[in-house]
Amino acid sequence: MSYPYPKLIAHRGGGNQAPENTLAAFQLGLQKGYKMFECDAKLSADEQLFLLHDDTLDRTTSGQGSAKIEWQTLNQLDAGSWFSNEFQQEPIPLLEKIVPFILENNAFLNVEIKPNPNQDYKTGMQCAKFLQQFVDPNSEHCPFLLSSFSEDALKGAYDADTTIPRALLLEEWRESAWETVSALECSGFVLNYKIASKELVEKCHRIQRFVMVYTANDEQDVAALFENGVDSVITDNMKLASLYSAKE
Ligand code: G3P
Ligand code: MG
Repeated sequence: MSYPYPKLIAHRGGGNQAPENTLAAFQLGLQKGYKMFECDAKLSADEQLFLLHDDTLDRTTSGQGSAKIEWQTLNQLDAGSWFSNEFQQEPIPLLEKIVPFILENNAFLNVEIKPNPNQDYKTGMQCAKFLQQFVDPNSEHCPFLLSSFSEDALKGAYDADTTIPRALLLEEWRESAWETVSALECSGFVLNYKIASKELVEKCHRIQRFVMVYTANDEQDVAALFENGVDSVITDNMKLASLYSAKE
């Protein structure tokens, strides 16, 4: 099957133009021309899948301390004001609030499994189980991609459901990655853009694995990454989509 994803992916929904991992961010990303979005998902203490990057609430919400608390409490928090007044009272979304947005807009969603501490396997499993219900088993098209830095999380996803594509996230290259993508039947890699050399990209392609990179924002860097053969770039730069659609 040919590579199914768009060349550009909006990081955390709307890059640097909206409060990360909120529905408002996805809406902004779509407005800017993005058709694929990355987000970070974790489990609440009562096992609801919600969007948040950090293990703690402090940086991006009105809460404090650990993010491993009950959904009822998470649901009261303001995840927009830290970014700007315009987004005041923007809530933390459940993953189930984002999926309809993706499907209605014929878009793609890269769910990065970002487990709370010691919840790797379980979070991976729950993400795959949750998304499975929205996938047509008779269609080659899957709007979802699961990725993680955590091999345990990817193993959980793999054990729950093999039909949702998986990708291994790597900040630094390690030779054991070949074995990991093979054992977990990952479709590709999501690499730190700084390590995505032409040579490494070619090696990944040789074993039929795609290469996405994160998080490249500079126009020249992005052009060089595509020159190196990278398949998609995850970016915070919301101007890139219109730039690339104008080139095509
Ligand atoms: O999924 C790509 C990228 O989001 C990984 O890094 O820290 O932004 O979640 P981070
Ligand atoms: Mg992420």
